[in-house]
Amino acid sequence: MNDGNPPSNNLQFIVQGGGTLVGEIKVPGDKSISHRSIMLGSLADGDVEVTGFLEGDDALATLDAFRAMGVDIEGPTNGRVIIHGVGMQGLKGANRELDLGNSGTSMRLLTGLLSGQNFDSILTGDSSLSSRPMRRVINPSISLGAKINSCEDGTAPLNIVGNQPLKGISYAMPVASAQVKSCVLLAGLYAQGRTCVTEPAPTRDHTERMLQGLGYEVNVEGATVCIEGGGKLKAVDIEVPADISSAAFFLVGASIAKGSELTLRQTGVNPTRTGVIDILKLMGADIEVLSETLVCGEPVADIKVRAASLKGIEIPGALVPLAIDEFPAIFIAAACAEGTTILSGAEELRVKESDRIQVMADGLEILGIKVVVKSDGIIIEGGQLTGGEVNSHGDHRIAMSFAMAGLMSTSVIRVNDCLNVNTSFPGFVAMAKDCGLFISTSSDHSS
Ligand code: S3P
Repeated sequence: MNDGNPPSNNLQFIVQGGGTLVGEIKVPGDKSISHRSIMLGSLADGDVEVTGFLEGDDALATLDAFRAMGVDIEGPTNGRVIIHGVGMQGLKGANRELDLGNSGTSMRLLTGLLSGQNFDSILTGDSSLSSRPMRRVINPSISLGAKINSCEDGTAPLNIVGNQPLKGISYAMPVASAQVKSCVLLAGLYAQGRTCVTEPAPTRDHTERMLQGLGYEVNVEGATVCIEGGGKLKAVDIEVPADISSAAFFLVGASIAKGSELTLRQTGVNPTRTGVIDILKLMGADIEVLSETLVCGEPVADIKVRAASLKGIEIPGALVPLAIDEFPAIFIAAACAEGTTILSGAEELRVKESDRIQVMADGLEILGIKVVVKSDGIIIEGGQLTGGEVNSHGDHRIAMSFAMAGLMSTSVIRVNDCLNVNTSFPGFVAMAKDCGLFISTSSDHSS
């Protein structure tokens, strides 16, 4: 979370009310898959070419960390990266702290992976990342045999002590988290014997798919995934699909803005990520998933969305983990829908890049929408969005969600602290403007 002080380098989005989204776009590469391509590509035996790599700050933080650990990585150039994999035992200790910026995925996955190395590592991040809970990955890693020091409240910096023999465990995750699952599996690669993780609800399975794509045996039975430690990864090229989490802003924008018709090309539609489509469809959205194919083990499709009248719904609990990153955008859809939308069972939103329940509630209220904040969710009464000045608290997805709200607002919306949009969606402003959002930026505003 932000420290509440005004950002020193504020980037403000200024969105005029109104507009229609029209066209065909391909949003940048999937962030989750981009992180994993660098991690697993670095551990492969040989060269791995990655295309469609997300050149956003988060994935670049992972790339930089592996360079610091001695991996020769060329690029990125237009989404193309060549990783000269060093094999499972080829990483070297970095001679500096690994600064992972705003990226929770980098820190949580690396905690597992680095627990199994023969060198020490220190993981740091920005003020938001340094206040996010890390015990969820520290505790299972310690059960595997890792030695990790953190701040007393379980936050970063994390000091991971090398040369610890790891032993496989069976771990029942208390929270539905792909980051925790992936952390345990990545530590399990270095553990003696079998490591199993059971999840309380399905979460994104990109780690499992990519391990299999690189020739590692992964056994999935129901909610449990198991691997044997001590295997190897083959060098296989990876094509990263467009990120459905970035597409989500456009799915919402085109659904709420009358006359809109947008095609989102070659977007990842892994069933563990498509909760946003299901939720918007339940609200009455007009969304078609077309020409689905499998690319490097991941389902990819073109998604066509047209404007529709949305209605409020009670969001089914089973869809919550499958849409976990898309709720800020879904809240904008709810604000523009007729009737009430109720979200429960989503307490995880409070520990994302910001407290996404409170920060969205604050912004929606400023824009004239009635909300009730609950500990595990929110109730949103659809209505008329007015203009106003809202704060994203440095949270990329909040910034882009409020930008899309401009399509239906009666006057200008200003969104503060938007620089972190570069963590997941470089080029957002230009792409949104090309499609018809009346958005501009100002960097000298200092509130
Ligand atoms: C991610 C998993 C999710 C998601 C995050 C990316 C991943 O976090 O919110 O943006 O790449 O594994 P949790 O696993 O903590 O829900």
